[in-house]
Amino acid sequence: MNQTVTRADFDQVMVPNYAPADYIPVRGEGARVWDQAGREYIDFAGGIAVNALGHAHPALVKALTEQAGKIWHVSNSLTNEPALRLAKKLVAATFAERVFFCNSGAEANEAAFKLARKYAIDVAGCEKYEIISTTNSFHGRTFFTVTVGGQPKYSDGFGPRPQGVKHIPYNDVAALKAAISDKTAAVVVEPVQGEGGVLPADKAYLEAVRALCDQHGALLVFDEVQTGVGRSGSLYAYMEYGVTPDILTSAKSLGGGFPIGAMLTTEKIAKHFGVGTHGSTYGGNPLACAVAEAVIDVVNTPEVLAGIRAKHARFVSQLNAIAAKTGVFSEVRGMGLLIGAVLADVYKGRAKDFMTAAAKAGVMVLQAGPDVVRFAPSLVIADADIDEGMARFAQAVDSLLAK
Ligand SMILES: Cc1ncc(COP(=O)(O)O)c(C=O)c1O
Repeated sequence: MNQTVTRADFDQVMVPNYAPADYIPVRGEGARVWDQAGREYIDFAGGIAVNALGHAHPALVKALTEQAGKIWHVSNSLTNEPALRLAKKLVAATFAERVFFCNSGAEANEAAFKLARKYAIDVAGCEKYEIISTTNSFHGRTFFTVTVGGQPKYSDGFGPRPQGVKHIPYNDVAALKAAISDKTAAVVVEPVQGEGGVLPADKAYLEAVRALCDQHGALLVFDEVQTGVGRSGSLYAYMEYGVTPDILTSAKSLGGGFPIGAMLTTEKIAKHFGVGTHGSTYGGNPLACAVAEAVIDVVNTPEVLAGIRAKHARFVSQLNAIAAKTGVFSEVRGMGLLIGAVLADVYKGRAKDFMTAAAKAGVMVLQAGPDVVRFAPSLVIADADIDEGMARFAQAVDSLLAK
């Protein structure tokens, strides 16, 4: 028997590390979601940049239900067909020659950082272990990934952190030049800082990072957990920039809502993760890989990728119109369907208020830190849904300004 549950139950039975909104979504279709009370929302959040094809996309439902009738899980002492098919597709579509599967972005980064250190130590000796990351970056919530992440609020309070991690300002070539040395095992960069405020890297910066890594024998790790799988308008953002990493991490959109993470790399680097060096019980799960395969099949087509760029322009022009009318935003930035509207000085710190007002007006948006309202909708959202959602968002902005 299903029992009735409400938002109030959260505070009674859940660990209080989240503060969920006051409504509970129960059903979704495309870019629309309905809550327990039957209220409809346009979804410009997509989880947090996860539901790449919206809700209940027929190709994903088909892939999941077909696989559910076949085999759900085997251990990694066996391999499975969906994992091999997905890995072949990722290898064919990217710089990568080898793939490691796991279940989340943090786990993909954990694998990337461990592999980068293992490679450096194997090749150049035990002094080459430093990881250089950027301030305000976000790489996940395991202890290694919060340590590499550049937001101390996530890593403080848990005792001693893993050693050998430095942080330098983002988009700052001089700072990297000063920090990098022959002790650097890896430089870790998000091509667009997502949680840090939807801040894209400059092309010249990423080119300089690549050159400095090569000069010092350091690996370049791109965290594409948020930017990957079409979100940027290319399959991966490194393709937009024309700068190829040595290791790339992917999650979020890869599963379209089903948990999966992946670390992509070259054969030369991958071989340092020999048998027994790393692993994950659920990594390469057949259900997850079957869904991700369907996501890649749909997203990695010229029509869908071109559509993402067109939808970017549609979002940005409507957000700029709201900015021009109300003065709430100082800048609209981002790539593809990862867009940030930066709050003007007088509204700084109030991104959550915009999120709450938007939900009241029937549209789900995100924040990216306290000063940026973030949009990460389905990559195949219909233009009519964009227009309707933007009309609701404009109402939400008006309602906040009227207060
Ligand atoms: C760039 C980036 N890396 C890593 C992560 C962590 O992913 P997960 O929450 O799946 O562990 C996130 C999540 O927001 C992210 O945006």
